Amino acid sequence: MLTIEGLNTHYGASHVLQGVDLVVPPGGICALLGRNGVGKSTTLRSVMGLVTPTSGKVLLNGVDIAGWQPHRIARAGVAYVPEGRLIFPDLSVIENIKVAERTPAKQWPLPRLLDLFPSLRERARNRGSNLSGGEQQMLAIARALASDPKVLLLDEPSQGLAPLVVRELARVIQILRDSGVTILLVEQNMKLAEAVASTLHIMVKGRMVYGASPDRFRAEEAEIRARYLTV
Ligand SMILES: Nc1ncnc2c1ncn2[C@@H]1O[C@H](COP(=O)(O)OP(=O)(O)O)[C@@H](O)[C@H]1O
Ligand SMILES: [Mg+2]
Repeated sequence: MLTIEGLNTHYGASHVLQGVDLVVPPGGICALLGRNGVGKSTTLRSVMGLVTPTSGKVLLNGVDIAGWQPHRIARAGVAYVPEGRLIFPDLSVIENIKVAERTPAKQWPLPRLLDLFPSLRERARNRGSNLSGGEQQMLAIARALASDPKVLLLDEPSQGLAPLVVRELARVIQILRDSGVTILLVEQNMKLAEAVASTLHIMVKGRMVYGASPDRFRAEEAEIRARYLTV
């Protein structure tokens, strides 16, 4: 579904992605882990076209979208939920979703989104700024789904959320997977990543250094954590 091949991205003179390779199979959930500053967000931003890769490929169903403008990448079926959510504070829940909606939304029309996120249904007329952190995260995901994506890029969705809300997030991510959405998930919360991912990948200094199934990851976790993840 989404294949990243030899991707290089620079910010000015700084060579951040140094030949990233990653395969996200159709309907799979790839979790991307790694210490702060290794290039996880830059990987998502490069896929979305928010930063232009200097070389390499981003294949979406075999079509190389590397270097395309973000709106064109969105239209091709990729949606992105940035770190920090970035919903519209002055718009209501419904309005936040409507601005992102394809006309007409097919896969994820508003009633289906409100079924998926019961907390948003209760707060449908509330302004974005009145929502809790968890509700804002759900809204950011709902808004991304309103564009009917084939591939969803999630950047640290559990950040700052209470354990109960993280569990709700895991439930939503599993439903999305079961509905056929392919997901690339950047996470610091290892428990969430292990619970939902079909494969786990670790990045160090702009390169992929590890990829495994959740079972293998769990077996090797202590060593992997010490080597690649703890500060
Ligand atoms: N807009 C930017 N301009 C210059 N450097 C940046 C920019 N965004 C990120 N960086 C740098 O690129 C590296 C990777 O950042 P990032 O992809 O955000 O890491 P991660 O998400 O893994 O924490 C870091 O060294 C960071 O300081
Ligand atoms: Mg980041």
